[in-house]
Amino acid sequence: MTTPRTSEYPIDKHFLERWSPRAFTQQPLTEEQVLTILEAARWAPSASNLQPWRFFYGLRGTPEFDTLLSLLVPFNEGWAKDAGALIFIASVTSFDGQRQNLTNSFDAGSAFMSLSLQAHSLGLVAHGMAGIEYDKVPVVLQFPENLKLEAAVAIGYQGDASSLPDFLQTREAPSTRQPLSDIVFNGHFTGEIKVPA
Ligand SMILES: Cc1cc2nc3c(=O)[nH]c(=O)nc-3n(C[C@H](O)[C@H](O)[C@H](O)COP(=O)(O)O)c2cc1C
Repeated sequence: MTTPRTSEYPIDKHFLERWSPRAFTQQPLTEEQVLTILEAARWAPSASNLQPWRFFYGLRGTPEFDTLLSLLVPFNEGWAKDAGALIFIASVTSFDGQRQNLTNSFDAGSAFMSLSLQAHSLGLVAHGMAGIEYDKVPVVLQFPENLKLEAAVAIGYQGDASSLPDFLQTREAPSTRQPLSDIVFNGHFTGEIKVPA
């Protein structure tokens, strides 16, 4: 992919090239591919190295994929149905029933970015999703009390935008970012919190 994204400072090109398409080719991923992607996630940093992330996957064409797909909101189900695999990311909120893990979500987010970049390295695309039936997931996936669903990810081979409905075809392009000057502060906060365009 030739990226229209530019950076204000020179960075590794993977950060600019990674993006979240919704068009997939319907080619299933292998377990080897998914476990390779999750291997990268496993090496993410976490507070006290507690590694609170837990991953649930389903390969396209299996009952597990269909179960995970059914737990997405209809909007996401509509395009993620073509993905090669689905991954749900959960995190452990407490390890001993008393001490809360305050960074479980932050740590799981690190793991998400690691798996996204690993997918990109493998020539695949990954698309994060919060549009999930959050109430149903712990029941269907049999979560213990101290496991919290964070997000889902659709992974696969990038498809042609023409496979998407019209309203999604126009959105099928890498997005921009706020300038560094809006999000970085030398010391204390100045200015105002702007809503991204
Ligand atoms: C935690 C999280 C939740 C997201 N939820 C959804 C979603 O439910 N549906 C969707 O189409 N995209 C979703 N996205 C994709 C974001 O909209 C996308 O990452 C963002 O616009 C930046 O674009 P990029 O990933 O192409 O750089 C989500 C991304 C993240 C990280």
